[in-house]
Amino acid sequence: RARLGVLVSGSGSNLQALLDACAQADFPAEVACVVSNVPTAFGLERARKAGVSAVALDHKAFGSRADFERALGETLRASGVEWVCLAGFMRLLSADFLAGFPGRVLNIHPALLPAFPGLHAQRQALERGVKITGCTVHFVDAGTDTGPIIAQAAVPVLPDDTEASLSARILAEEHRLYPLAVRLAVTGKVTLEGTRTRVDAQAAVGDQSL
Ligand code: GAR
Repeated sequence: RARLGVLVSGSGSNLQALLDACAQADFPAEVACVVSNVPTAFGLERARKAGVSAVALDHKAFGSRADFERALGETLRASGVEWVCLAGFMRLLSADFLAGFPGRVLNIHPALLPAFPGLHAQRQALERGVKITGCTVHFVDAGTDTGPIIAQAAVPVLPDDTEASLSARILAEEHRLYPLAVRLAVTGKVTLEGTRTRVDAQAAVGDQSL
């Protein structure tokens, strides 16, 4: 089973979805370690409760981004992490860090990329007046939410939506999509082809949700 390191900054509900998926006997990955740059993040509690190593690395306690990322890389490697999943992790990672896990860093974003990258994606969608938005799991490159797309799910924007109601509707889809995308990635059913990915046709057809 592929060893995942999950990085969180907050509630960690996507981490929970991954932990729950990994608890299934036929899931091809396990969570080896959870790291948060926010020591009070509830995600760390979720990890401990699941019996998974939970490490707080407060980025503010490091002198530079490079120092923080070095500690992060060392922590992940010490747990034998092969794949890194960003799950509400609100720090950008440098090309140097990414080079340590080539093609093996995934992120989930609450919009249909390339629309609405960066912060407050749900608010951006409401302000722009789109009628459909959603979530995206993608490989991470050195840009902000620019990496090759693995999987997406759409949700409607309803007339009375607030940022909170829209976020909740997207989050429900995130919890379904992230485990599915991790399965595709770690089993090699999705592969990188430059700025795009190729998703194995059988895998996509076999899974209703793609
Ligand atoms: C999720 O909606 C995730 O897509 C988003 O933060 C939330 C984290 O929730 N990530 C980003 O906006 C990254 N730019 P969670 O902590 O409950 O998984």
